[in-house]
Amino acid sequence: MSLVKLIDFPSLGDERGSLVALESNKDIPFDIKRVYYIFCTHQGVVRGFHAHKKLQQVAVCITGKCRMVLDNGTRKEEVWLDSASKGLLIEDMIWREMHDFSNDCVMLVLASEHYDESDYIREYSSFKNIAMSLQIGMK
Ligand code: TYD
Repeated sequence: MSLVKLIDFPSLGDERGSLVALESNKDIPFDIKRVYYIFCTHQGVVRGFHAHKKLQQVAVCITGKCRMVLDNGTRKEEVWLDSASKGLLIEDMIWREMHDFSNDCVMLVLASEHYDESDYIREYSSFKNIAMSLQIGMK
């Protein structure tokens, strides 16, 4: 199964311009408990480099673009987030890296849980070990 799970948001555009509305459990497949956004990212900066034990997120670049790399411990896939009407669903236990932010990039992230530092896995080797043991357990 693809690691890249894109959601097309319906655009309610008309002759005045565009509008996207996002609702919990409709356009976004969970209860939204937190919203944050990443902007004014300096040239050449990379972000992310972590996974979450139990967190669902949808990321959308509402202006500009960035390249998202996803990794489940055995496979890596990447996708450009470059549209205000295209969201990327990132589920539990996915290592994510954000590269190549454009100067104008504003990335909005909707999250299923409040901020919890203990939910982060920030070391790739720990992530890989946990991912491997979960995949073995599922077989
Ligand atoms: P971090 O998770 O390191 O950002 P990224 O993964 O994009 O590189 O977060 C940067 C800082 O912001 C860190 O000190 C934690 C804090 N933070 C919050 O307080 N609440 C949040 O919802 C998020 C995402 C981060």
